[in-house]
Amino acid sequence: MIFLNGHFMPIEKACISVLDRGFIFGDGVYEVIPVYSHKPFRLMEHLHRLQHSLDGIRLKNPYTNKEWHDLLEQIIAKNKGEDQSVYLHITRGVAKRDHAFPDTPPTVFIMSNPLLPPPQEWLTNGVAAITASDNRWIRCDIKSISLLPNVLLRQIAVDAGAIETILIRDGFLTEGSASNIFVVRDQVLLTPPKSHLMLPGITYDVTLELAAASNTIHEVREITENELFSAEEVMLTSSTREIMAITRLNDQSVGNGKPGPKFRQLHQLYQQYKATHMRAGAVN
Ligand code: PDD
Repeated sequence: MIFLNGHFMPIEKACISVLDRGFIFGDGVYEVIPVYSHKPFRLMEHLHRLQHSLDGIRLKNPYTNKEWHDLLEQIIAKNKGEDQSVYLHITRGVAKRDHAFPDTPPTVFIMSNPLLPPPQEWLTNGVAAITASDNRWIRCDIKSISLLPNVLLRQIAVDAGAIETILIRDGFLTEGSASNIFVVRDQVLLTPPKSHLMLPGITYDVTLELAAASNTIHEVREITENELFSAEEVMLTSSTREIMAITRLNDQSVGNGKPGPKFRQLHQLYQQYKATHMRAGAVN
């Protein structure tokens, strides 16, 4: 079951106009919210980022946080599975094709898919990534549905038998095509600071909080391309992939080619955090 413009319906029944500005211009924003044991993870943080994205494209938020919360509760209840991945999407609505903003109501779409754990093999052995030049616009802090550059960049990885493309802009690491990136150098966990050149990841925040709470030495600072290539460990974070070790980069081993100690520690802390905050009656 999905939600479209005020109504719940089976996805097969959902229709939008070909003149929707999401379809015509990619004029909209979105969020992906993981759900564990029927509870949305870090909902307020996701709604805060949604507001930032809406402000960034000058689109009024169609709902209050309470209304979003109620809608998400309903969509979660109407879909199968304890763990889900809720996708919500707002466009500037349907109007005759003209670049200027129309005076029309937005299109609001919410769907939910099962949230599946990554394959065990990926957790045991890590995954491969490649690097590419970050050729996206310079408002990557907006979670825009205009994802063509990200789609093209991700496909280069898929074509190379890898699962993510790590992006480099002007010699510095920004993020992945759909994830944030952490590296370990001299046993220090490093990640780039939030800026308009990357999406402020919710999982990125959780990872830094877990590092701080466990006294893991970490630093938020710019990371050069050379530092990435000579890192002891590289990891990605995202709502759907949580924390994953990248053990091959452009066909070279990262460190000894196995998921490293910092990854194992953070991955375990993340699972513990979910267990205490999300599972079995826990208060989110
Ligand atoms: N993408 N950077 C980009 C470009 C992303 O698209 C994502 C997530 C992230 C990680 O953010 P978070 O930890 O809040 O999921 C970073 C989602 C999962 C997607 O587009 O499907």
